[in-house]
Formats: sequence, C-alpha cells, structure tokens
Amino acid sequence: MSPKNSVLFLLFLLFHSTPIFLCDLTEGRHVGNGRKHNNDHHGHWGRKGNNGRPKGPNPPAHSPPPSHSDDRPYSSRVFDILSFGAAGDGVTDDSKALLQAWEAACSVGSATIEIPSEFKFLIRPVTLKGPCRPDLVLKIDGVIMGPSDLSDWPHKGLLQWINLMWVHDFTIRGNGIVDGRGSHWWEEPESLFQESTYRKSKIIPDTKPTAIRFYGSQNVTVRDISIVNSPQCHLKFDGSGGIRVSNITIMSPGNSPNTDGIHLQNTNKVEITDATIGCGDDCISIQTGCSEVYIHRVNCGPGHGISLGSLGRDNSLACVNNITAKNITIQDALSGVRIKTWQGGKGWVRGVTFSDVSVSNVETPIVIDQFYCDRRSCRNSSDAVAVSDVTFNGVRGTYARQPVYLACSDARPCEGVRLTDVELSPASERHLRGLLRQPLCWNAYGETRAPLLPQGIDCLQKGGAAALLLSGASAQDSHPSDQCLP
Ligand SMILES: *[C@@H]1O[C@H](CO)[C@@H](O)[C@H](O)[C@H]1NC(C)=O
Ligand SMILES: *[C@@H]1O[C@H](CO)[C@@H](O)[C@H](O)[C@H]1NC(C)=O
Ligand SMILES: *[C@@H]1O[C@H](CO)[C@@H](O)[C@H](O)[C@H]1NC(C)=O
Ligand SMILES: *[C@@H]1O[C@H](CO)[C@@H](O)[C@H](O)[C@H]1NC(C)=O
Ligand SMILES: *[C@@H]1O[C@H](CO)[C@@H](O)[C@H](O)[C@H]1NC(C)=O
Repeated sequence: MSPKNSVLFLLFLLFHSTPIFLCDLTEGRHVGNGRKHNNDHHGHWGRKGNNGRPKGPNPPAHSPPPSHSDDRPYSSRVFDILSFGAAGDGVTDDSKALLQAWEAACSVGSATIEIPSEFKFLIRPVTLKGPCRPDLVLKIDGVIMGPSDLSDWPHKGLLQWINLMWVHDFTIRGNGIVDGRGSHWWEEPESLFQESTYRKSKIIPDTKPTAIRFYGSQNVTVRDISIVNSPQCHLKFDGSGGIRVSNITIMSPGNSPNTDGIHLQNTNKVEITDATIGCGDDCISIQTGCSEVYIHRVNCGPGHGISLGSLGRDNSLACVNNITAKNITIQDALSGVRIKTWQGGKGWVRGVTFSDVSVSNVETPIVIDQFYCDRRSCRNSSDAVAVSDVTFNGVRGTYARQPVYLACSDARPCEGVRLTDVELSPASERHLRGLLRQPLCWNAYGETRAPLLPQGIDCLQKGGAAALLLSGASAQDSHPSDQCLP
C-alpha cells in the first residue's frame, strides 16, 4: 500500500468502522424465516424479502434474546441470499439482495453468506465493503453471473465487476461459478476499443472490468470456486497482503484478449496453489510492489504463462522481490515463465525462482525481456528496471519458437541469472521448417549447470562485473522516491 493509501485507509477506519460495528451488531440475530436448504443443518439466519428498508440499530421484537443468540455456534450464522429477496433465476437483478446479505453478515462475527447451488444470480457491478467482523465467508455454490450486455455497464467504465474493499480475515469458497459473461467485450476489436467515437457509436464503456478485485485487504482466502469468462482480468489483488488462493479454476477462451487469470499488484505474502488457469493473456501476472509470492502446482494454458511485468512503463518505479513459482505446468502458451520490463523504468526485480516447470508447445518457455514494447516503437533509454538473482531450474518440455530469450539492457545487464537443468526440444516437425529461432542471451550474466538442451542455451556470460560498474553512479543520482525500499 502506498503511504497515501495507508492514510486513507486509516481515515476510513476511524470514521466508518466504529459506527458500522455499533449499529449492526444485532443484525445477525434476526431470525430468518426464509427458504431452507437441506444441506444446512444449522438453520439460516437472515431476513426474508427485506425491501430495502434501512436497518435500524434496534433488533425487532421477534429477535431471540441475546443469551440464546450467543449460545448458538458461530457456524450457524448463515445469511442466504434467497432470504434477502434474491430471485436466483439468472434474469432478475439480484444485486440488492447480495448487498443486503453482505451488510447483515458483515456485522456479525464468523458469518457465512450463502449463494446456494442450483440457482443463478444476476449481479450488476457491486462494491462489497469492509471492514467486517472477522471470519466472514462468501460461500458460492450456485452461479453468480455478470450483466450480459455491454449497455448494462456504466458508460464511463468501471475497473471491476465485484469489488471487495478493505476486507480482512475473509474467505470465498464453494463449488460454484462466477461467470463474467465477457464474450461481448472480447468481440470488440482491440484497436477500436480505445477510440472514443467508436465507443460512442456502440455505447460501450472505455474500460474492460476485472471480474473479482480485492483492494486494501488482508488475510484473504479464495478457494474451490471457478471464475470464468471475465471481460478482462479474472481475479485481482491490489494493495493487499496475506492472500491464499487454492484449488480454483479460471477459464476463458484462448482468443479472449487481455483476459489475465490472476493479477497481483502492491500485494505481498501470497500463496497460490493447485490452480488451473487458461485464458487469453497472462496466467498469473505479477506487477510492481509484490513480494513473498509463492506459486505452487499451477497449470497454465492457453495464454501467456507466468509473467512478472510488464514493469517500469512510462519511466515508472518498479519493485518486485522474492517470487517463487514451483511445480508448474504450462501448455499451448506464448511464453512460459518470463520477466518483462520497459526501457526507461526504475527500480528492480530480484530474488525470482522458477523451478520444476513443465512446458508443452510453448512458443518461448524462458524469457527476460528488458526491451518490452507493445507499440510500434518505443523510445530507447539507458534507464531500466534492474533484474538480478533469477533462477530457472528444472524447465523441461517442448517449445514452438525459441527455447530461451534473455534480452537484457545495455546499461543494466541482468545479473545472477541461473539456468540449471533445462531440457527443451522443438514441439513438432512443422516448426522445424524455418520457424524456430536460436536461443538468445544479450547482456545476461550468471551461471549454468548441465543438463542444458538444446546446446545453444548455454549462452550466459560468466560473472557479473559489467553491471557493478554502473550501479554506483546511478544510485547516487536518484531521488529517494525513485528507489525501492531495501
Ligand atoms: C486469517 O483469517 C482466518 C479465516 O478468516 C482466521 O481463521 C485466521 O485466524 C486469520 N489469521 C490471522 C493471522 O489473522
Ligand atoms: C476443490 O474444489 C472442488 C470444487 O470445485 C471440490 O469439490 C474439491 O473438494 C476441492 N478439493 C479440495 C482438496 O479441497
Ligand atoms: C520469501 O518468500 C517466502 C514465501 O514464498 C517466505 O517464506 C520467505 O521468508 C521470504 N524470504 C525473505 C527473505 O523475505
Ligand atoms: C508436481 O505436482 C504434481 C501434482 O501434485 C506431482 O504429481 C508431481 O510429482 C510434482 N512434480 C514435481 C517435480 O515436484
Ligand atoms: C533504439 O536502439 C536500437 C538498437 O541500438 C536501434 O536499432 C533503434 O533504431 C533505436 N530506436 C530508436 C527509436 O531510437
């Protein structure tokens, strides 16, 4: 979190959290006479068909006495969205019911918001705001669907569909599906999407939303659910920490542009395990301000594999450190594991380990690209986000274009690159006819250890003296705000 965000967050806590807690403490004691579900033996607490009446601080007359309430096991505090007037037919807008269930559950410790199976809930863009009492669970067993039409989105655009802000000790789980229904967004031609007259003529917003985004959140678990067909990124964490993502599935078609699987930014202490992710863009994208990220047993593809970056765009500062991805399989992807930075950026990426990576038909399995540019041309600059201490260990399988591409900056060569136990072979005979490229190492310093196949990938320059010459001078010139904290 940036200092400014931290201040805002503290202000928010001061001015909002106390009244919310005080007003809503009694809310969970409202007795639900709403629909029961066989799979729950504790009974459901919630309000039936609340028509948007504002909640008062006083419990209604039929509330059980507090002593009774306090005897209840915490796990019985289930707030079923159907008890809040949701239709669950996939057509009616159930956003209000979700928001009301959230408000009720948020103010009760250890509450569960149930999205029951065998129902489909149409939800418009919503913000689910904390802070809430600890151990809140959003249990998604049914389907949550986004608006199907672009015209259902505000024209000025939104960065996300389901926006979770300032939650802590929070869990999303269940066997259900979050379906962004993004196909209409993907059909818009990328080149025209940013053009305002085209957008006006078709009444489409200027931003493609992320499906689920956490902001300013701590100690969050997302597990078991599927997230599919997002207009853009599927699951994003920004300014957050203590994140566990496990056993989730993320899917959208390989031709859906800009659909990242999981996107991390300014987020630390992240564990992503046992995920299956296939979409049109990065499987997992790690941006500036991330550290202590551990990715384990993840399957990626199609898409762009696991990516750090792009970092340092528009001369910005990037700081990424201590990232591990282990026991990864990647198939039918553009790249496998990669770091990409723009020329002109500042800061550094260091302490990155990719190990036990199994690739199949991946165009370029191993990439460091310090000349990243998604326009026709980019300005040359001698500044660069420095890349050091990067290990590729145990990368095996097949490539469809170039086994290794390490293009490091002239002014800041990559240092401490380790290529150990890398065994790659061409994906198919078809590619042997002229499409294959030789491995490339440019200003990449470090060490290698056999086995290394194909032969040409043993192309690192030994040692690392080159970069040391430059680092002293530039460190002195920099303003402190241009530098990463140690
Ligand atoms: C994190 O959240 C979980 C579930 O809500 C809770 O059980 C656990 O105590 C929390 N951990 C910390 C360190 O607060
Ligand atoms: C993984 O998630 C699925 C539901 O999508 C669930 O059936 C299964 O039990 C979960 N596995 C574990 C190990 O929790
Ligand atoms: C690096 O991150 C891992 C989690 O992936 C953590 O266990 C370890 O303590 C971190 N190391 C440092 C030096 O911060
Ligand atoms: C990777 O994980 C899979 C599934 O858990 C396991 O079967 C396999 O042995 C692991 N591979 C390595 C190299 O750790
Ligand atoms: C940047 O440098 C490269 C390599 O020296 C050169 O080929 C290219 O023309 C330069 N581009 C611009 C925009 O100056």
